[in-house]
Amino acid sequence: MEKGLSCRLCNVQITSYLDMDAHSGIIRMGGKNHRKRQFQDSKREQQEGKGVYINQLGDLKLSSTQAYFSQFGTITNIFIGWDKAKQDKMYSLIIEYEEEASVQKILSRDLRNKHWVPVVPGERKLHRVRVSERKVSNARPRSPSPPPPPQISFGEIQVCLSVHTDMDEQIEEIMRLTELCEEDIEERNAICKNISKTFAMNGYPNCVVSPFGSTVNGLGFRGCDVDIYLDLGEKPTNSIPSGPVDFTSDENPLMLADEGYDDSFNQQQPNGSSNDQSVSGKQSTSSSKESQVKKVRLAAQLLRHIPHCSRIHPITGARVPIVKFIHRRTGINCDMSFKNRASVLNSEYIRFCTEMDHRIRPLMMAIRLVFKRYDMAGGGGGAKISNYALTMMIIVYLQQLEKPLLHPLHVLQQFIDGEPELVDGWNFSFCADISKLPPLPVNKQGLFELFCGFFKFYSEIDLNSKFLSPFLGKVIDRYVLKERLPEEYSGRPEFLRPEGLLLDKFICLQDPFELTFNMCRNLPERGYRTLVALFHQVFNTCKLLKESPCPGGFNKLLNLEIVPDENIELPDPMQVFDGTNVYMAFLLPDISEVTLQKHLDIFTTDIQEKAASTDSIEMTIDDNTLAKDTTENKDNTMQEESQNTELAKDVAKEQKKKKIEVLISIIFCKCLQFMSAKEYEDKKTCSKTKDQDGSQRSNEDELCQPDEKRTKLDLSIEKPKDSFLPLNPQNNEWVVYHHVWAGRKRFHAEVYAMKEDLSVLEKEMHITDEQRSKYTPMLDLPPDIIFKHHVKIYQNHMCLGLEMVQSRKKLYENLFTWLRSYLPELMKSL
Ligand code: UTP
Ligand code: MG
Repeated sequence: MEKGLSCRLCNVQITSYLDMDAHSGIIRMGGKNHRKRQFQDSKREQQEGKGVYINQLGDLKLSSTQAYFSQFGTITNIFIGWDKAKQDKMYSLIIEYEEEASVQKILSRDLRNKHWVPVVPGERKLHRVRVSERKVSNARPRSPSPPPPPQISFGEIQVCLSVHTDMDEQIEEIMRLTELCEEDIEERNAICKNISKTFAMNGYPNCVVSPFGSTVNGLGFRGCDVDIYLDLGEKPTNSIPSGPVDFTSDENPLMLADEGYDDSFNQQQPNGSSNDQSVSGKQSTSSSKESQVKKVRLAAQLLRHIPHCSRIHPITGARVPIVKFIHRRTGINCDMSFKNRASVLNSEYIRFCTEMDHRIRPLMMAIRLVFKRYDMAGGGGGAKISNYALTMMIIVYLQQLEKPLLHPLHVLQQFIDGEPELVDGWNFSFCADISKLPPLPVNKQGLFELFCGFFKFYSEIDLNSKFLSPFLGKVIDRYVLKERLPEEYSGRPEFLRPEGLLLDKFICLQDPFELTFNMCRNLPERGYRTLVALFHQVFNTCKLLKESPCPGGFNKLLNLEIVPDENIELPDPMQVFDGTNVYMAFLLPDISEVTLQKHLDIFTTDIQEKAASTDSIEMTIDDNTLAKDTTENKDNTMQEESQNTELAKDVAKEQKKKKIEVLISIIFCKCLQFMSAKEYEDKKTCSKTKDQDGSQRSNEDELCQPDEKRTKLDLSIEKPKDSFLPLNPQNNEWVVYHHVWAGRKRFHAEVYAMKEDLSVLEKEMHITDEQRSKYTPMLDLPPDIIFKHHVKIYQNHMCLGLEMVQSRKKLYENLFTWLRSYLPELMKSL
């Protein structure tokens, strides 16, 4: 059977000048003349989204396949790709429908892989075919891709940095080496102007083309993309034809076909930009997805006729549909979107932030450079965050500093003049007039100090349980947010809807304006782990650089090996410690039985204590239903033996858990010198008896006295010396009177050098001694924190849960966050 014939046989009109490459499924253009080709282009563009490509057809016949696929809608065309190796056998098919909806139905998630076609219509034998979206591409010989614009070079940066020793200077130098220069910016603005002109001349006189993103926010690296928002404006008077453009017609509206578009355009009309027009009125809404898709197609159609635009690629399936293209002369990548002005306005906000203080732009660029180096931020998919999200993380950091460099956004919104500009109901206005804003405290931190501070801040907080908000200007606990919405949000609680802000993601970073949007909602676990590793590793290297600066020191930060710790699971405290009020849970590293025992022995020399700790281990195991005496099962069958092995393993695990509990108790009681709850109760009773006038202070304000004041009252607590009680794993409640996490590092080097012979745990004990010698806590004030610890076996690992019982302000957060990194690190070093 001949190809042409079969098409006629099935009563489908196949356009004669279209032929199909059977093995690629791509329709190739057969026309020779340019105008005809353009006509065909347009025709095909019209069909975009209305076709499906089908292969793996087996021995199916056209009639049965057509019968099956006609149930989804009216078929307008079928193109057959014949199997080259076997006559009359179909290799693939393209079916075009009248409506896009038919294609969407066929490709819907439910149906996509379930197209079982009856081999003979009406019979039971079925054959599964593979169906995908029909992609159309030009077979026209393509001109070579324009060379990309000059990009930043890490090699060059490193060479240039090596002549500076001062870290602040190196950060300044990074900005100079990477920033867009005047010319680059002009180039990008010219692209926007030309696009605007093109659309204006072709039926959209009111269109507004606005660049956004790194081109305008002050943070663009050399060679960065241009993000463009195109508002087509009022309904066109001389509308662009929605059907195929007929290039044979004298009324062709696409006047730019091959001539008349070049950069001289700008020179002729230097002020002719519609670029700086703004949307009139204060309310603007988003185009619906459908209308954005239409605009994307229309724009792609128009851009194809601009000789300066190449590689035009509409992406209609994205959350925000865009047309991608490359500006031919400069090689600059452009992304054009049509959704709303939100991106233009939030870019203005970022620009405002970068201009608030001279340190902010170099700081942000240096951080962006580090993230780019490790491919942790930017576009192009993968397990990373967007540069926009990274910028917002830096903004939050600068807002929450003790002496902030930026105001929270809600503060900026309190000082706006006139009506706020709303986009989709969200307030996108902010006051950019510094003279109207409350003054910020003087902050004299250096650039590198701020840089280190950023990595320190994010390596010390448990991102997984936090909520980061540039609107609030701080980081708060997610659970707090669920319990009570901060008052700054009053009148805008929409974002807590289940489909709103996704609070259960690895990172929850709220968009400053569109409060329902979590900028990190798509970050996968691998990306999260790498990000956490990046924060830690960069911060650790920063500490070394602070101690010993060297020429080109920043280069060390660009040559790290960032490896996420694959062994660390991220347990959900609520899930692991069901029924308790555990606030934070983390895994403890696995330490060998021998090491564990060695350290337990050092601290449990007291016979009574030893007996107490080991007794309690055995006692608990005896109580445990799993812990049957395995020796009784000698004569059992193979099955029983294997059960016994399992049982023995469980017993061993349970035993180890008890030992870990003792170890944790040793660390808390001896190394960090927390008081056991029991001891605290005893002391309190004792101190109450002494306190004859009954002037016990429990007033909140007094609780917040700085430590220096408290030290003057010399009511020292004795260190828990020989009491075995705290080491009993059942005593898991601890009373904390001193900021054991603060300034500890200061004594570290000294103690470790002076007390070489001591074990790690003993050295830690000495560090606490040193630390505590600086002040004496007073017992008649309530303690800073009372907390409980819990150990559980989670997915074969030891997991530690920390539960807050009582705390002065949010001090427990500091303690827990510190313990989260301190304990695993300490245990690894045993
Ligand atoms: P990018 O993440 O591309 O940032 O977002 P960028 O600064 O342009 O970085 P590079 O140089 O291209 O890598 C671009 C703009 O898109 C909007 C913002 O306006 C941002 O400035 N955007 C991006 C959002 O509004 N929300 C997002 O989640 C991401
Ligand atoms: Mg961008």
